[in-house]
Amino acid sequence: MTATPTARVVSRRGLLAGGALAAGGAVTGGAVVAAATGDREAGGRPAVAAPSPVAAVGALVEPFHGPRQAGVTTEPQAHGAFVAFTLRPGTDRAALGRLLRLLSDDAARLTQGRPALADTEAELGLLPARLTVTFGFGPGLYRAAGVDDRRPPSVVDLPAFRVDRLQPAWSGGDLLVQICADDAVTVAHAQRVLIKDSRPFATVRWVQQGFRRSPGVEPAGHTQRNLFGQLDGTANPRPGPPLDTAVWVPDGPAWLKDSTTLVVRRISMNLETWDLLGRTDRELAIGRRLDTGAPLTGTAEHDEPDFAATGDDGLTVIPDFSHLTRAHVTDDRLKILRRPYNYDGTPTPQGHADSGLIFAAYQADITTQFLPIQRRLADRDLLNEWTTPIGSAVFAVPPGCPSDGWIGQQVLG
Ligand code: HEM
Repeated sequence: MTATPTARVVSRRGLLAGGALAAGGAVTGGAVVAAATGDREAGGRPAVAAPSPVAAVGALVEPFHGPRQAGVTTEPQAHGAFVAFTLRPGTDRAALGRLLRLLSDDAARLTQGRPALADTEAELGLLPARLTVTFGFGPGLYRAAGVDDRRPPSVVDLPAFRVDRLQPAWSGGDLLVQICADDAVTVAHAQRVLIKDSRPFATVRWVQQGFRRSPGVEPAGHTQRNLFGQLDGTANPRPGPPLDTAVWVPDGPAWLKDSTTLVVRRISMNLETWDLLGRTDRELAIGRRLDTGAPLTGTAEHDEPDFAATGDDGLTVIPDFSHLTRAHVTDDRLKILRRPYNYDGTPTPQGHADSGLIFAAYQADITTQFLPIQRRLADRDLLNEWTTPIGSAVFAVPPGCPSDGWIGQQVLG
């Protein structure tokens, strides 16, 4: 996994100017970044020892300000925390404005490798490791603020699906903060800061923490594997126009243009019963090979699947009810961007896993893009035998903001 082209290494000057720093922290942070950037003292001697790859990862920065929020089409980081809040009674439009100004300021600082204002653990704010903080607004936020006319129409609770076994503990939410970075300590610190600053306005409804492969573990551009061992993400829309069309709202009023929507589904994966399947059955369930991720009718991961091809037995090579067949979308405008994180909870005393996917899907419109796929999967998908949705939430992801602005200003301002 690599940084996106937009990621840059935080400058030594930027770190040292971070304010509220204990001297020890500043020295450490500066040294790390100097190592990563090859910073030199006068006379051309290296300022610090040779760069280590780990320091390079810690110093990488994703932009926070801009027309669109980061953390959506950003190359997925290794660690993610999805924090959903319930607004306290009385948190109205003005209070939400105060809350989001505060949280935007925290996010703007921490993502750039600077501690938050009054950061109680300032040293933990120095290594952003591509930290992104993405804000999502649930239907309840628009009601609380009295701006329901600015809610993207498809941002409503999803209908119930036959396969759902939803638990309130993992569902709903008025405000979402999605925190992602290539380092778990960075995520933990940002989560702590953002939760502390929201206390007067909101209570924590649920937190879902997950992980993907760490940077440097696989060559750049590799598709990650989920805990079933499958390559997961192959058919995501390609970067550039296909991805942009699928994810971002291209025009409309200021609160809508450059926004997107997010569906978070917590899907438990039954590793115990999956273990009982042979390799062939596992591949038939998904319609792709486990080793290469190629469709069963091809040889390479990105080969187009041939859903009409039949074998000697007259049956289609890719089963009609495979996950691939049921989920497949050809029109770029109707695709979704899947950016899932694996979760792995505490096993039962009997040693049974509590594993699954924090399935996060971004799309310009939930009704026309996500729902038809989810309906087809709920109706018939071989994978349903081993997977169960246990949480569900929907959010609008409002546009980004300039450096003198805050997230949500177009909705609440
Ligand atoms: C634990 C649950 C799930 C697992 C383990 C899983 C796994 C996979 C795998 C291995 C693939 C094939 C490789 C790829 O293109 O990424 C795939 C494709 C896909 N999945 Fe899932 N998936 C899950 C749930 C869902 C859900 C809930 C949706 C949407 C409602 C979804 C939508 C898709 C789509 C759109 C594709 C691409 C199909 C195509 O156009 O070729 N998946 N999934």
